[in-house]
Amino acid sequence: MQRHLITSAIPYINGIKHLGNLIGSQLPADLYARYQRARGNEVLFLCATDEHGTPAELAAAKAGKPVAEYCAEMHAVQAKIADGFGLSFDHFGRSSSPQNHALTQHFAGRLADAGLIREVSEKQVYSNADGRYLPDRYIEGTCPNCGYDKARGDQCENCTKQLDPTDLIDPRSAISGSTDLEVRETKHLYLRQSALKDDLNAWIDSKSDWPVLTTSIAKKWLHDGDGLQDRGITRDLDWGIPVRRGDDDWPGMEGKVFYVWFDAPIEYIACAGEWSDANDGADWERWWRTDKGAADVRYTQFMGKDNVPFHTLSFPATILGSGEPWKMVDHLKSFNYLNYDGGQFSTSQGRGVFMDQALNILPSDYWRWWLLSNCPETSDSEFTWELFQQGVNKDLADVLGNFVSRVTKFCRTKFGETVPKGAEFGQLETELLTDLNARIARYCGFMDAMEVRKSAQELRAIWVAGNEYLQAAAPWATIKEDEAQAAMQIRLGLNLISLYAALSSPFIPDAAKALQKAMRIDEQNWPVDAKSATSLLRPGHAFSVPDNLFAKITDEQRENWQEQFSGVRT
Ligand code: MF3
Ligand code: ZN
Repeated sequence: MQRHLITSAIPYINGIKHLGNLIGSQLPADLYARYQRARGNEVLFLCATDEHGTPAELAAAKAGKPVAEYCAEMHAVQAKIADGFGLSFDHFGRSSSPQNHALTQHFAGRLADAGLIREVSEKQVYSNADGRYLPDRYIEGTCPNCGYDKARGDQCENCTKQLDPTDLIDPRSAISGSTDLEVRETKHLYLRQSALKDDLNAWIDSKSDWPVLTTSIAKKWLHDGDGLQDRGITRDLDWGIPVRRGDDDWPGMEGKVFYVWFDAPIEYIACAGEWSDANDGADWERWWRTDKGAADVRYTQFMGKDNVPFHTLSFPATILGSGEPWKMVDHLKSFNYLNYDGGQFSTSQGRGVFMDQALNILPSDYWRWWLLSNCPETSDSEFTWELFQQGVNKDLADVLGNFVSRVTKFCRTKFGETVPKGAEFGQLETELLTDLNARIARYCGFMDAMEVRKSAQELRAIWVAGNEYLQAAAPWATIKEDEAQAAMQIRLGLNLISLYAALSSPFIPDAAKALQKAMRIDEQNWPVDAKSATSLLRPGHAFSVPDNLFAKITDEQRENWQEQFSGVRT
């Protein structure tokens, strides 16, 4: 039995995520977790909300709530929606948890002890009216280059010139509009990533099985970008993890918190602690400490491509710098972007379909199937309502749903609701089983390799093979001459439904469960051999005809949704 530690990039707390976020990490991570469990492997699948930073503070202010309260509420909202999509996390934690506070402070202490942290004095803009320091992008003013009056402190959107907040003419706070700003001197902690360059390089070189895309991004930042410059890991904010050196105060750092990108990945580890505390003290260190049993764990991370540098450089720098035997990532699966109807999904602009809205209009399996089978794996991909309608209607309704319906209804009419006995398998059946064996092996190979689209294609081909068999065997014609032969064909058909339930469960878990229920299957092993898998349901075994498994999306529905989701969400 293998042991798989699986994490998905942790979604920001500020608002409900859109389908692009979902397919960019959580959903493929769930596919993999479900598959590994179904193969009988031991899995710990973790995710959490990413709760710190300015965006969280501002979203709370906008909602008129204290930030802690806002985060607690949004965590519950996101957890419920994740559940609605069947995301099978063993724990959905919070980066603001006490466990993460302690662990983040612990790492900072270890890094300081190792001489990997230095203090830097910086000049930063303070807003008297807002009573806080303003991050660059929350300072607005007139661009000295083009005169645009809504330029941000980090960049002018109009002429793209990179700016310093002090370059702006008539600067003001983007939060309150106040012009009562002053420049103050403030001290921050920097992680000396540059001192870890050789260690990181050696670690990345040891990952010979990483995809080129991942390694090249990592190497680029390591060697010629500014990714490996020393990095500020503290901020002047109220909300966040207070800067401490392990259990001790950190003189000069009073009132400051760690930078959100410092504590967020540490939550991957802390989340296992939360999981343990929620499960009678389950042993989490055997997943995370190589000196305590995690040496044989295979750790896979899922994320969008913009997250790759943080996972290949910053977080590993934190871990390597600690000098402690934490488990490091073995495989890193990253995704491109899903676009919406010719543009981008956008949380800030409310553009696209958001997870709660999606669940309101269709069951999660429809979304899971379409998103996974069209996931932005080797390049960006595109959601349009036409493509969605086509994919769902063709694959789920016409191919899988139709097969199930034809087989079960025919059997009910001709033989009743039990598996009929009939003749022995003949040549057509043997050929089908040989073909299925090859396809199942290919499917498993793709799933092991996390080739999401190819896995979906192979699964679809396995469904199609059943339909083609049914078409060729034509039990509705056979029965007129040879009832035993027709009974055998239908016995095989019913067993194929059982096979499909098992193989499809990582993609469409609810439909798979409905099939198992209809076929009266309590527990099912992962099918490796088509022949034995299709003799599971014995003659005399009772079943029932499942309710229409997948309803087709009508043109009218599609047009309504097109219209409903063409604007922006308010
Ligand atoms: N919240 C970040 C995003 O959505 C991802 C954080 S991943 C972690 O882009 F590594 F920081 F945990
Ligand atoms: Zn400009």
